[in-house]
Amino acid sequence: MTIDLLDLQAYADGPPHEQLRWLREHDPVHWHAEPNGPGFWAVTRYDDVVTVSRDAHTFSSWAGGTMLDDSPPEFLAGIRLMMLNMDPPQHTKLRALVNKGFTPRMVAGLEGRVRDLARRIVDAVAPRGACDFVADVAGELPSYVIAELVGIPLDDGRKLYALTERMHTTDPTPEGLAHAQVAVGEMMTYATDLRAAKAARPGADLASALVAAEVDGERLSELEFNLFFMLLINAGGDTTRNLVAGGMLTLLHHPEQLALLRREPELLPTAVEEMLRWQSPVQHFRRTATRDTTLGGRAITAGQKVVMLYGSANRDASRFADPDRFDARRTPNEHVAFGGGGTHFCLGASLARLEIRAMFAEVLGRLDAMELDGPVEWLPSIFINGPRRMPVRFRSV
Ligand code: HEM
Repeated sequence: MTIDLLDLQAYADGPPHEQLRWLREHDPVHWHAEPNGPGFWAVTRYDDVVTVSRDAHTFSSWAGGTMLDDSPPEFLAGIRLMMLNMDPPQHTKLRALVNKGFTPRMVAGLEGRVRDLARRIVDAVAPRGACDFVADVAGELPSYVIAELVGIPLDDGRKLYALTERMHTTDPTPEGLAHAQVAVGEMMTYATDLRAAKAARPGADLASALVAAEVDGERLSELEFNLFFMLLINAGGDTTRNLVAGGMLTLLHHPEQLALLRREPELLPTAVEEMLRWQSPVQHFRRTATRDTTLGGRAITAGQKVVMLYGSANRDASRFADPDRFDARRTPNEHVAFGGGGTHFCLGASLARLEIRAMFAEVLGRLDAMELDGPVEWLPSIFINGPRRMPVRFRSV
C-alpha cells in the first residue's frame, strides 16, 4: 500500500480511509516523510491517540505548535500566544478565563436562543425548496452563536466567519496565501476595535470578560486579546458547519438511517455522536515530543513531530464494533472528534453538540424528501473534513 497522507488528491471526497486502515493494521505509529519538512509520526490507533493527547508533558503543543506544517520562528512565536499552542501551566491559566462561559450548565442556558436561531435559519430556506446546504443552513448557526457569546451583532458574526473561511483554505499559491493574510489582518483590526469598545462599555459577554481578565495580575495585551478572539471565532465556525453538512450528507447516503431518525427523533443525541465519529471534522492535530519516548512500540526522539489522526482513531476496530458502519443507535460511542481528552479537549464540545442537535431537529422536522440537487464539492484540505458546497432540494412541511 502506498502511503501518502499529505496528498490532497487523496482527500477529494473525504479522508483516505483505505490508507488509514492499512496503517492501523500494519504500522500504527508510522514514520511519514514530508517533502518540505523533517517528517512526522502518523498515529492512527485509538489508544495511541488518547495516550498522546493526555500527556502534554511528553507531547507538547507549545514546542512546535499544533499544525502539521512547521511554522517559521517569527510566526511560531505569535501563535504561541494562543492557548491552543500552549502547555500547562500557562495553558491552564488562559483556559480558566473562558472555561466558565462554556460549562454544560452555561451552555444549557443558551438552548432556547440556539433553537430560536436554528428555526430562523430554516424559516429562511424552507419556502425556496432548494439551497446550498453548506452556506445557507450549516454555516449560519455557528457564526450567529459565537457572535452572541462574544457580544457582537449577528451580521458581524457572519462577516468574521467569512474571514475564517478565507484563512482556512489551503490554497498554496502566492495569491491564495496573500488572500488568507489579508483576512487575518481584517480579523485583527476587528478585534482591536472590539477591545476598545468593550473596555469603554463592558457587557455580560465573553469579549468583555477577556478585556477585564487578569493572568498573574496582568491584563491581556492587545495582541493576546486579538489572538484569543481569533481562536474563539475560528475554532467554532467551520468545524460545526462541516459536521452539520457532512452529517446531513451521510444521512442522505444512508436513507434507512435517515428514515429511522425521522421515525424516532429521540435518537438524535446518539445519531449526532455517530456523525461526529464518522465525519471527524478536524482530522488531526500535532504535538512535538519533548523527550525520547516510545509509542506503539516505536522509538520517538525528542523534537520529533507526532500527529494524532482523529478520523483514523474513530474507525479503529479495536474500539468500535464494525467501525465502517454508520449506526445512529451506536452506544457507547467514545469517539475522539473533540480530541483525545486531556488539557486541550475541545472547549466548545457542549456548545457544538447543542448547535448540531438544534439544527438537525429543525431540518429533519421541516425539510422533507431532501435529495442532492447537483454535485457535492469537498473542502480541499487534509486538516478540516467536510463538504464546501452541497446543493439540495426538499419539500417544506
Ligand atoms: C463539531 C465541532 C467541533 C469539533 C469537531 C472540534 C474539535 C476540536 C478538537 C479536536 C480540539 C483539540 C485541539 C488539540 O488537542 O490540540 C478542539 C479544541 C478547541 N475547540 Fe473545538 N471543535 C468543535 C467546535 C468548537 C466550538 C463550537 C468552539 C467554540 C468556541 C470550539 C472551541 C475550541 C477551542 C477554543 C479549542 C482549544 C482548546 C484548548 O487549547 O484548550 N470548538 N476542538
